[in-house]
Amino acid sequence: MSEARLGLPDLGFGVGLRTVHYQHILRHQPDVDWFEIISENYMDSGGRPRHVLEQIAEQYPVVMHGVSLSIGSTDPLNFEYLEKLKTLAAWTSAAWVSDHVCWTGVNGLNGHDLLPLPCNEDTLKHVVDRIRIVQDFLERPLVLENPSTYVTFTDSTMSEWEFVTRMAEESDCGLLLDVNNVYVSCFNHDLDPIEFIRSLPHERIVQFHLAGHTHCGTHIIDTHDNFVTDRVWELYRLAHRLTGGVSTLLEWDAQIPDFDVVHGEVLKARDLIHDNSELAPGTLSSESTQLSGTSASSSGQAARPATVPQPAVFVAAEVE
Ligand SMILES: [Fe+2]
Repeated sequence: MSEARLGLPDLGFGVGLRTVHYQHILRHQPDVDWFEIISENYMDSGGRPRHVLEQIAEQYPVVMHGVSLSIGSTDPLNFEYLEKLKTLAAWTSAAWVSDHVCWTGVNGLNGHDLLPLPCNEDTLKHVVDRIRIVQDFLERPLVLENPSTYVTFTDSTMSEWEFVTRMAEESDCGLLLDVNNVYVSCFNHDLDPIEFIRSLPHERIVQFHLAGHTHCGTHIIDTHDNFVTDRVWELYRLAHRLTGGVSTLLEWDAQIPDFDVVHGEVLKARDLIHDNSELAPGTLSSESTQLSGTSASSSGQAARPATVPQPAVFVAAEVE
């Protein structure tokens, strides 16, 4: 690799495109740097979703983010899926195509969950081989995201950050660093999120994700239904310093508030990195902030639904 970020651009501060915001975006053309789309929401659909996407892609840079590549599965790679991915990337002039370091199904079934992989030599070789095939087929680098995880494997022989680093270097792929996912996984497995972020190959990080989560006391669930927490903002600032700054995207997938609230959350990232002062505790905390005029509540766990949504399940519902 000769260039940082595989030569891919820093697009600035973007927002995940969600159907509830279509009308607002088309009507007001907000001053957003870029949008990330869920690839599967547009691969098979014509009609309104594609019509809306066409208009948005004419005005904003678009990045494609998938949830069904299943790079770690033992199923054969799905070339019908990859062909659709490649066609959509050309149609949207996608700046890059990303997915997750995970598996989502086996025996042809898609469970719509981003399931973790054991971090060992066998899995690493399997994933690296498949990334190379996918990159050759797509004729572009693949960018892969660290997922949130809730279990670990006795078969693992290396840390997740070592696995991800070797995966990226041996396959020559890019990385999407989800800072919230680092925090969620490290809390759940009693690991150090700072060591995780410090240990990655920073020149290969193409993009950041930020999102909110649900703290259940003994564990954290990656719900994407709230504001980013202070601890994640602190980790973001570390990641920004180590990478020199890369494209940053805010994900909000459940209890989605008004577009301006979502956009305002990612703009905190811009303000944070332009602010040289130390992050004062609570300065950026939105956990105690009341949302007015929106469908979301950030006033605390008491307002949460009895069952917490899982982001991939939410996305799948939208696809179907
Ligand atoms: Fe993410």
